[in-house]
Amino acid sequence: MDKSETQSTDSGLASAMEWIDKRFPASETFEYHMSRYYAPKNFNFWYYFGFLAMFVLVNQLVTGVWLTMNYVPSGDGAFASVEYIMRDVEYGWLMRYLHSTGASFFFVVVYLHMYRALRYGSYRGPRELLWLIGMAIFIALMAEGFFGYLLPWGNMSYWGAQVIVSLFGAIPYIGPDLMEWIRGDFLMSETTLNRFFALHVVALPLVLCILIFVHIVALHHVGSNNPDGIEIKKDKDENGVPRDGIPFHPYYTVHDIHAMVVFLFIFCAVVFFAPEMGGYFLEKPNFEMADPLKTPDHIAPVWYYTPFYAMLRAATFPLFGLSAKFWGFVVMIGAIVIPAALPWLDRSPVKSMRYKGSISRMMLTLFVISFLILGYLGTQAPSKAGTIAAQVCTAIYFAYFILMPWYTRVETTQPEPERVTV
Ligand code: HEM
Repeated sequence: MDKSETQSTDSGLASAMEWIDKRFPASETFEYHMSRYYAPKNFNFWYYFGFLAMFVLVNQLVTGVWLTMNYVPSGDGAFASVEYIMRDVEYGWLMRYLHSTGASFFFVVVYLHMYRALRYGSYRGPRELLWLIGMAIFIALMAEGFFGYLLPWGNMSYWGAQVIVSLFGAIPYIGPDLMEWIRGDFLMSETTLNRFFALHVVALPLVLCILIFVHIVALHHVGSNNPDGIEIKKDKDENGVPRDGIPFHPYYTVHDIHAMVVFLFIFCAVVFFAPEMGGYFLEKPNFEMADPLKTPDHIAPVWYYTPFYAMLRAATFPLFGLSAKFWGFVVMIGAIVIPAALPWLDRSPVKSMRYKGSISRMMLTLFVISFLILGYLGTQAPSKAGTIAAQVCTAIYFAYFILMPWYTRVETTQPEPERVTV
């Protein structure tokens, strides 16, 4: 192509853009969210995971649509259709493994994404609403995974869902009716499978996409936090551009593509060489069809729910006339929703762990360790020692939140720098 041809292609593109821009704010939106969105220049490793979560979401949506083309949501057909996808559908095995591995990786990246917020105080003002939207995403994601897990209609799908649904039965007065309402039947049945299918394939993906859209809109309205936890918008140059900000595009688009390549190496290694991950990503009893007459030896949810499952099992005694099961349910729900209160629990004069005191650092470390131990305990069959360990870890988990107003106020912090440090 010579110079004049290139120029005419350029002007052709420019006039096409002009035509679009008169009718739709394409360039304006791109500038607002990408090329003129000034992100702090000191983003580090922990800032990869929001983008990676979006990447995994796309993987789940695309592979999910392909799976749905051959999946049959019926009591007789579900298990067989998954076998058919794995054996006969061209690349069906790949779609299934991309989807099942994607589910586990979704939780890996989202947990790391949330940890980043704890580390740098990203939940603090002015990002409270962004954090609450994130919490709604987290809960919707848990529900999405739960509904999806029933679909292969394996024995663990069946009994896992049975255990979780039966927890609602522990709620006084309304419990038994509520349980029946969720299942749509007296037992887990095809009716339950049908409604879980509808929720997994249509309702929750829609809710998730809307919430993620709102999450990004809220983020771009208030601006990103950074590892120093200082607001770059407070120091702008004569053009109104934050001195410590760089345009998201091209700087962070390239940075995120780099993360995506590294991520794909790890992700593909699991998809191709260890899709079952020793029974953690795809559990062994799920290779047998659901059997209402045969309970698996040890019912355990998939690894990403096990910290909460361990907390549920840590409640072992009745209280105030209500069963241990009821209190387990309360503890589990409490553990899932309590992070929503963080913006109001953290009273530190600084946001980032870099400048917080030693008690905050110690509490965050203990919190992470107990969360990991709980995750492990939830995969194991119940034992006396395991229950005591789970009780201690549950106490630490809640102490991290409940004691926060106290320890963030009394500890000595370091002064935040004026400008971001790189
Ligand atoms: C599908 C799930 C999610 C997606 C796709 C997503 C996406 C993103 C993206 C792209 C960013 C900007 C890049 C980054 O900071 O890493 C971001 C920032 C953020 N997200 Fe999420 N997110 C998800 C879930 C969550 C959850 C579950 C929470 C918390 C409960 C959360 C809280 C935040 C916060 C506080 C920020 C601002 C961080 C900062 O500026 O330091 N997100 N999210």
